[in-house]
Amino acid sequence: MNLSVIILAAGAGTRMRSSKAKVLHRLAGMPMLEHVYNTSKKLGAKQIQVVYGHGGDQLKQQCQHFEVEWTLQAEQFGTAHAVQQASHNIAAEDIALILYGDVPLIRAATLETLVNNVSANNVSLLTVKLHDPGGYGRIVREHGKVIAIVEHKDASEEQKLINEVNTGILAVNAGYLNDCLSKIGNDNAQGEYYLTDIIAMAVNDGNEVVTTQVEHAYEAEGINDRKQLARIERIYQRGIADKLMTEGISLADPERLDVRGELIVASDSFIDVNCVFEGRVELGSGVTIGPGCVIKDSTIGDDCFIKPYSVVENAIIEQQTEVGPFARLRPGAHLKRNSRVGNFVEIKNTELGENSKASHLSYLGDSEIGKNVNIGAGTITCNYDGANKYKTVIKDGAFIGSDSQLVAPVTVGKNATIAAGSTITKDTPDDTLTLSRTAQKSIKGWVKPKKK
Ligand code: UD1
Ligand code: CA
Repeated sequence: MNLSVIILAAGAGTRMRSSKAKVLHRLAGMPMLEHVYNTSKKLGAKQIQVVYGHGGDQLKQQCQHFEVEWTLQAEQFGTAHAVQQASHNIAAEDIALILYGDVPLIRAATLETLVNNVSANNVSLLTVKLHDPGGYGRIVREHGKVIAIVEHKDASEEQKLINEVNTGILAVNAGYLNDCLSKIGNDNAQGEYYLTDIIAMAVNDGNEVVTTQVEHAYEAEGINDRKQLARIERIYQRGIADKLMTEGISLADPERLDVRGELIVASDSFIDVNCVFEGRVELGSGVTIGPGCVIKDSTIGDDCFIKPYSVVENAIIEQQTEVGPFARLRPGAHLKRNSRVGNFVEIKNTELGENSKASHLSYLGDSEIGKNVNIGAGTITCNYDGANKYKTVIKDGAFIGSDSQLVAPVTVGKNATIAAGSTITKDTPDDTLTLSRTAQKSIKGWVKPKKK
């Protein structure tokens, strides 16, 4: 049977106190809506519709890569009205699954169970037991069977004591859903069309309501304000930390790790406190990441040591390489095995060969650096003339003296030595010392200027 997902995201989200749509607020670096979208994809949904209200342009722009249909609910008359905007597009024989853009941590496994429980005309409902059910729709049962959902605002004192509540998430045959939606009214405390009325309707029609309970309450938790968002973020991050530890990674403190994307690991690596991983990062085995590192879309080979406070983006770091402290690797940095990049070194679009070192205070951009090269402190590749970028080539075994400038395009020969403080504007020969500075002299009888 085909699955069609409807994601409700039209609520104004006033408690966020934000100019942007609530579902665009980020959880683990991604709009919360994207988490729900990815989960829907995992379920193999053939059709995904997002019902939005305000800020549609912004929403569509930031979620361009989604394969979804966007449906406007211009005015928010309630969850049943919201679902109706999309559900009439669903083939009657499909299963409709209702999700919420602000309930981001719902797991695919839970939803699979929920969807598998759908049969001809029943309603498969996801519930959760809460210590403090305040605000939620209560699940009213009779002889163990669900007979209705009563919204908090419509509930009697006795009903308010019920701690099994509606998550809002349900799956139902689309034909039956549309039948029910056409009959739902808005005669209730909020004057809204409640999706939850479908439960009482099903019971009236003699149809069963099957419930699935979520394993972890956070799965069903909706985000209404920034405090809840921050709390859910920590729950999400803790889940990732636990998974990494299970996979054989040691964390100095699982509460002080942030993964905003995908961190793929081998085993036996160690991650110190306050590191942030973004995009897709791959770590080999035996890697040590020092505290405070920010690593994005990069690959780090076996036995590397990324020392404290290094920032790495779109880089490839081969095995046994050391980086930092305070290094900055920018896109296109490729450090070959057993190389060293030290403090205050910036590397961009540059290959640093095997066993080569740039230990202190350098800028290496648009360069190709061979094996066994030593880059002295303060070396700068002058790659930009104000209009165009040029390449610097440093051949195997070269030694670049401290505080040299290599004005690209330029090539430093194999085993060449560049004397400290040189400005190199022409290619330099192999196996030769090249220098470009005034010979040192001392002026006898020179008098220091005096203050007038
Ligand atoms: C709803 C349920 C309640 C459940 C709770 C769980 C109903 C009537 N009540 O209550 O039983 O315990 O969720 O969180 O369904 N939305 C729209 N368009 C609308 C109205 C809402 O898109 O016209 C979206 C909102 O963006 C939100 C979701 O639907 O994501 C829930 O709406 P909300 O009004 O917050 O319902 P609750 O009162 O929380
Ligand atoms: Ca809500």
